[in-house]
Amino acid sequence: MEAAEAKPVVIKVAALCGSIRKASFNRGLIRSAIQISEESINGMEIEYIGISGLGMVNTDLEVDGTFPPQVEEFRKKILEADSILFSSPDYNYSITAPLKNAIDWASRPPNCWADKAAAIVSASGGSGGSQLHYHLRQIGVFLDLHFINKPEFFLNAFEPPSKFDGDGNLVDEEVKERLKGVLLALHEFTLRLQNKHSKDVSIV
Ligand SMILES: Cc1cc2nc3c(=O)[nH]c(=O)nc-3n(C[C@H](O)[C@H](O)[C@H](O)COP(=O)(O)O)c2cc1C
Repeated sequence: MEAAEAKPVVIKVAALCGSIRKASFNRGLIRSAIQISEESINGMEIEYIGISGLGMVNTDLEVDGTFPPQVEEFRKKILEADSILFSSPDYNYSITAPLKNAIDWASRPPNCWADKAAAIVSASGGSGGSQLHYHLRQIGVFLDLHFINKPEFFLNAFEPPSKFDGDGNLVDEEVKERLKGVLLALHEFTLRLQNKHSKDVSIV
């Protein structure tokens, strides 16, 4: 009898964009990440999860441990994901209000972010959103989110020549390669984290 072929492990990545602007550069980074994963990374499925319809966090809307329907759906998507890809500009040197709102909703008990791997990419002005990375990492400490450290990905979206077209699509091949590097690191780190979790640890 032929040995059964081992199924490749597929990790599910939830991709969140901190900008809800239609032609957002950061949303463009996510579209590119999805294309890269489909074309050249085995075992990685990235799904864009919208956050614009969530409504503002308000614990009055939690009834007997349930949440408004859109929040329930969002929380489920996060729970089902193995890892998270955040793509966001910085707003006034920090994370954007829509992203913080989404993070807060999914942090309500039971915390949906716990033990997941994560990566951050950013397209913004100035230093390309570097300040946002450190604020997001700090939030991750409390939520038990585990970020890859490297490669770092900050992109000044306004420096010529433009890396995006008018619809916010990433058109620069070198930047796509850098983005691929982040995805590969996230893939590897997610598997490492999960392997650790599944090991039997006994104290003698
Ligand atoms: C409220 C607000 C605050 C901003 N603050 C910063 C900032 O601190 N640093 C920065 O580089 N760009 C800042 N920007 C500019 C954004 O980085 C820029 O609009 C970027 O294109 C947004 O990303 P998006 O294309 O994904 O929407 C700010 C924009 C807004 C709307």
